[in-house]
Amino acid sequence: MTKLRTEGLTRRFMGLVAVKDLSFQMDEGEILGIIGPNGAGKTTFINLVSGIIMPSEGKIEFKGKDITYAPAHDRARMGIARTYQLIHPLENLSLVENIMVGSIFARGHSLKAARANAEGLCAELGLKDIDRDTSRLTILEIKKMEIARALANEPEVLFLDEVMAGLNSTETKDLIATVQRIARERKLAVGVVEHVMGVIRELTHRVIVLEAGELIASGPYEEVSKNPRVLEAYLGGAA
Ligand SMILES: Nc1ncnc2c1ncn2[C@@H]1O[C@H](COP(=O)(O)OP(=O)(O)O)[C@@H](O)[C@H]1O
Ligand SMILES: [Mg+2]
Repeated sequence: MTKLRTEGLTRRFMGLVAVKDLSFQMDEGEILGIIGPNGAGKTTFINLVSGIIMPSEGKIEFKGKDITYAPAHDRARMGIARTYQLIHPLENLSLVENIMVGSIFARGHSLKAARANAEGLCAELGLKDIDRDTSRLTILEIKKMEIARALANEPEVLFLDEVMAGLNSTETKDLIATVQRIARERKLAVGVVEHVMGVIRELTHRVIVLEAGELIASGPYEEVSKNPRVLEAYLGGAA
């Protein structure tokens, strides 16, 4: 079942076209990689789909419903969640309280219900000692906390914007397995932005490649990674 679909999605910032005529879809249970050089429009795309910013042109549908101009909080309630590239734990709140914030805002849960829900999410993600202050958490725990906060919205579509950044290889393996498990168990459609191609190769079923806001290739990683246009975009971008 198709969860999310865009058609001709375009966003301009002054003269710059950050996302250009982007048509794509994401299905239930699918882990989709969103890759491309710095500045390709990946975060802008997630911002558009989650309603943080509005498109200049084009259309966004969630389960067949037009949500192109729906406000962000409506989309969160409908089931579109995301993490942020720059993580921002709320200081002076504990691990579990940071997760509770998600369901209090999006679902209107009572404190008690939010706590029970957050405790369940911590168990699901293997987060222990949940009353710790966030200053005491490892990077891996903070990343899991961010994911748990997004899951507190009970999403059907989840975007992860560079969640693996800053993790060592053991932690990365742990988080890859965690994301795969929650996607499978919750039948989520997951969109992942990542720079490390090993992560994309292991984690995703399919990737889309953006360059200067345009979709230049899509397909399984093994196929897309051999595409001359993709190689050129990466080598050109890195040079
Ligand atoms: N709020 C904004 N105002 C102006 N330009 C922006 C804004 N957000 C992003 N951009 C520009 O849009 C382009 C795409 O940025 P971004 O989506 O962050 O890329 P990526 O996440 O792929 O690195 C960049 O050129 C960036 O400078
Ligand atoms: Mg980005």
